[in-house]
Amino acid sequence: MFETIEWKDDKVVMIDQTVLPEKEVYLTFDNYKDVADAITKLIIRGAPAIGVAAAMGIAIGALGISEIKRDEFEKQFKGICDYTNNARPTAVNLRWAVERMQKLYEENKHLSLGEIKALLKKEAIEMREEDIEICKTLGRHGAKAIPQNACILTHCNAGALATAGYGTALGVIRAAQEAGKNVEVYSDETRPFLQGARLTTWELMKDNIPVTMICDNMAGYFMKKGKIDVVVVGADRIAANGDTANKIGTYSVAVLAKENNVPFYVAAPTSTVDLRCPDGDGIPIEERHGDEVIKIGNHYIAPRDVKTAYPAFDVTPAKYITGIITEEGIAKGDYTKTLKKMVEKAQADKE
Ligand code: MRU
Repeated sequence: MFETIEWKDDKVVMIDQTVLPEKEVYLTFDNYKDVADAITKLIIRGAPAIGVAAAMGIAIGALGISEIKRDEFEKQFKGICDYTNNARPTAVNLRWAVERMQKLYEENKHLSLGEIKALLKKEAIEMREEDIEICKTLGRHGAKAIPQNACILTHCNAGALATAGYGTALGVIRAAQEAGKNVEVYSDETRPFLQGARLTTWELMKDNIPVTMICDNMAGYFMKKGKIDVVVVGADRIAANGDTANKIGTYSVAVLAKENNVPFYVAAPTSTVDLRCPDGDGIPIEERHGDEVIKIGNHYIAPRDVKTAYPAFDVTPAKYITGIITEEGIAKGDYTKTLKKMVEKAQADKE
């Protein structure tokens, strides 16, 4: 097996997702800037994994502040949190993790700096464990929506690599298989960064879950042929009304699913729900460098000076979503009510 992210000897260790599946390389980070830059460069990616990396980066940053005056510590801590928070804009789990670390600091300001540092480290490590448990619980809820002998289409990678382990969309698929359902997966390649081709296929094959890789433009063909029974994808940010930002191309899959009467599920922890964002129009969409569009690895597939456009995410309107699977169950119907209830329940369960 593999570990997406771990805390080892006060350092953060991550599998480098930019070189998978060709190379299985683990990178070790000992300062917060490098951890935040690893998020920006997609060495670690996927909303829940980004959240855990952010928390660990902040903990490492705090440990690195030398024992100085309280107000100087506070200033440096704020700088670390701001730098981390700016690593990527769309996945709300990043902001969620930063705010959780900041809240912990605010609540424990009266303690010694040594005690505060120890608490921040403990919190970051716990967030990793929590994320794995949440994915397993979410997976068990979602497995109920998967029929026996199902062919499931997924887009991008919402697996163990996108989380601290087990996965969201792939967590649902793993749980369905563990529940004895016979499942097979169709994985969209997910241009341009190829998370489906490089990462989803790799981790499903490691788990012996049957997977067929298809190009993004083949999804409609297979739906029309009746091959796909259900679509399950992850999410980077879910607005209060259920509108969901996920990897570019997800919206097209959702529209195709509706047209072909295929149920379309989103699987994500409640930490991906942004109740401060009323609808999808408020979700910031990351624009990435055009080089990722015109190159595959180091190989150019288009004229080097061609103009490109590269929104890394799109928003699927709630009306296309059959259900939103979280660790609190499957939200359906009026998401403004059902999602809010789930987020509040998850927060209450934690306190
Ligand atoms: O740019 P990425 O790889 O970080 O984007 C990730 C996604 O959009 C995934 O589909 C994912 O579902 C969200 S994380 C489980």
